[in-house]
Amino acid sequence: MIQCSVIVRLINWESAHSGEVLPSNLIHLTYNATSWCSFNTGSKQYQPAHGTRVKKTDTVFQNPLEAIADFSFDATVADVFEDMVNRSVPGYGLLIALIKTVTCQFAQKNSHLYDLGCSLGACALSMHDGSVAIPGCHIIGIDTSEDMLHRAQILTRQKNANNIEFICEDVRNVSLGDASVVVLNLTLQFLPIEDRGRLIQKIFHALLPGGVLIISEKTSNPNDVDQVLLSQLYHGFKADQGYSKLEISQKRDALDNVLIPESISEHQARLESVGFEQVLPWYQAFSFVSLLAIKK
Ligand SMILES: C[S@@+](CC[C@H](N)C(=O)[O-])C[C@H]1O[C@@H](n2cnc3c(N)ncnc32)[C@H](O)[C@@H]1O
Repeated sequence: MIQCSVIVRLINWESAHSGEVLPSNLIHLTYNATSWCSFNTGSKQYQPAHGTRVKKTDTVFQNPLEAIADFSFDATVADVFEDMVNRSVPGYGLLIALIKTVTCQFAQKNSHLYDLGCSLGACALSMHDGSVAIPGCHIIGIDTSEDMLHRAQILTRQKNANNIEFICEDVRNVSLGDASVVVLNLTLQFLPIEDRGRLIQKIFHALLPGGVLIISEKTSNPNDVDQVLLSQLYHGFKADQGYSKLEISQKRDALDNVLIPESISEHQARLESVGFEQVLPWYQAFSFVSLLAIKK
């Protein structure tokens, strides 16, 4: 485990686990490759409650950049991803929690549960929690980012989720099979549009009868007036999360050629075209939409 310590001066930093306000003081922080995990003020040691981690704040786009490179899931992003995704995707925490509920309903014994584009493995962990009572569930998280997977492995080990395996591979190249639950949470939007149909078809063939695909995406709205309103609301949400106008606009530019949204009806049509008999939106926060696609 990589571990390092630094001493910083913080003013009125609210303790993540108890809500108490720490005094202005020199604070000694310990970092363990995924998060700041303990801190003390010289006289008193603060240890977050079991399972609570102090997230590293996303400052990736805080300073003016001369040139804005395309967004990538590199080490810098992986390091702050937990904070970034929670402050950038409205309702992310609830969506992850509800994946457990869907898993409870659809996971089948002796089957595979896939988290495609797993990042830090949040969905894999939620599927783990939702399938503990179902024997023989093997959870597989797949991502191209080694930086993400390194952290995912640490996080799942910390939670004793021993039936989760991580594979560093492009989701377009892996073979899938015997699946009862497949999650594509905010991943398909990063693939070229021409590759999306083939992946959805592969998932359909990998699913067992009664299996489900949970697909969540940032969507575009074909109605210009609605699109403008949803964008304004989304930027309001990001401002409420503490992002500055500069951070919002620089990140938007970085994602411009990388995250290509499609409309809800385009997603529905693709899912139905490969054979999914039941396709329904089940969750939405602004433009972020999740669909269930069920194979009968
Ligand atoms: C927005 S993140 C997904 C968040 C994650 N599913 C969650 O719920 O926390 C997108 C992830 O997809 C991964 N990714 C993008 N294209 C991929 C591909 N072709 N194959 C595998 N992973 C990919 C990225 O490395 C990144 O970690």
